[in-house]
Amino acid sequence: MRKVITYGTFDMLHYGHIRLLERAKALGDYLIVGVTSEEFDRKRGKINVRQSLMERIEAVKSTGLADKILIEEYEGQKIDDIRQYGADIFTVGSDWDGKFDYLREFCEVIYLERTEGVSSTDIRSSEERIRLGMVGSVESSVFQKYYEESAHVDGLEFVGAFSERPLDDCVDPYIKWFPNYNELLDNCDAVYIVSHPSRHEEFIRSALDSDCHVLCEAPITLNGDTCRELFELADSKKLILMEAVKTAYSTAYNRFILMVKNGLIGDAVSVDATCTSLRDMQRENWSAEKSQNSICAWGPTAMLPVFQIFGTGYTGKSIVSRIIDVAEKYDSYTRVSFVYSNAIASIQVGKGVKSEGELIVSGTKGYIYIPAPWWKTDYFEIRYENPEENKRFFYQLDGEGIRNEYLSFLHSIKQGNVLSCISREVSIQISSVIGDYYAGNDCTILGDDR
Ligand code: CTP
Repeated sequence: MRKVITYGTFDMLHYGHIRLLERAKALGDYLIVGVTSEEFDRKRGKINVRQSLMERIEAVKSTGLADKILIEEYEGQKIDDIRQYGADIFTVGSDWDGKFDYLREFCEVIYLERTEGVSSTDIRSSEERIRLGMVGSVESSVFQKYYEESAHVDGLEFVGAFSERPLDDCVDPYIKWFPNYNELLDNCDAVYIVSHPSRHEEFIRSALDSDCHVLCEAPITLNGDTCRELFELADSKKLILMEAVKTAYSTAYNRFILMVKNGLIGDAVSVDATCTSLRDMQRENWSAEKSQNSICAWGPTAMLPVFQIFGTGYTGKSIVSRIIDVAEKYDSYTRVSFVYSNAIASIQVGKGVKSEGELIVSGTKGYIYIPAPWWKTDYFEIRYENPEENKRFFYQLDGEGIRNEYLSFLHSIKQGNVLSCISREVSIQISSVIGDYYAGNDCTILGDDR
């Protein structure tokens, strides 16, 4: 039996790919297709792949031409695969002519003529672009990052920003300022909202009324019922509403969640997540009214691993806060504990208190440790009783996860269903816990008895 092996990204599978696979199959009796992972593609400079690895694998599978599909994840894997599977022929399109001659040492190498006039790149760039506007705190570092990252995403066109005050000098002069929100909405297909959370609801409603899709910084709203209602409103209008928490889109974070769910540390029994930063409060012009409090700024990120690992069905919770501005309900520090039937979790968030920003998930066989700042990590460790079994994992972090978040948002818009890394139930639960903080449910305020 002659085995043939070929590799590719196979993004938005097209006629050129199918012809290549047909001819590759015809070279032998058994065809192995290596589909490149997102990380490997990024490492070799291909950052705009539209479809997820699973979607691309499914597309190759649906051709019925591959006898085996594998994932290409690292440099040098081709040699390992050729040896492991005993491939007789390695083949790719002629755009790679000569590049794989070094494999002749291991098997026959055949370059098949590339089909003219079609490529994934062309398909991606001929697609309609989504015009994106931004709303809210234009001078914030979050806004700046999302603005800069939008330039790296094929199919996204940044239109401008709405803010009540004219943009000041510290803002990029190329950003077009819209003094009126409706005018921005008239020029957009989608908006990214990064305002004070107390204004999210009004901005979301106006956007949905203007048929604009919405990517909104977490928390979506300041109570769970309103959050659910807004999702339903988006559904009824066939629009996408997605919560923005960039950590949810980082590769290391996603792999860490998968490993916990796959039982690598046995049964997960506790999650302890800490997120703090003093930067905001140390600014000269800081005011509780304009700034986001600790529970809104950090609560969603810290709650994310709790709800993604244990679900949203906790049996009890308690919120303890240190409040420094009663009128604005500004907490400089909050700890929330969640009790589940079989597990426990605790988050600590602070904008006026500093602590080690680490994440630890403890399990019956070992624990996972993500060092500070865990919310933008490219690295974590699994640690066991026997340190020799410990494992370290490194992943590339492009744009702190924002780039992947944008891509999910775009895919969702194009496919007409939400492909978010954060489930709707998790988003609603995040808003609901924050709602309880504002309503004073399950809450203790430090110093109240003094
Ligand atoms: N291929 C081909 N003819 C085309 C496009 C691709 O024969 N018109 C072959 C490539 O040479 C490769 C395989 O299909 O062997 C997978 O290619 P891939 O890089 O995934 O597809 P492209 O369309 O070239 O993607 P991009 O535009 O992103 O580079």
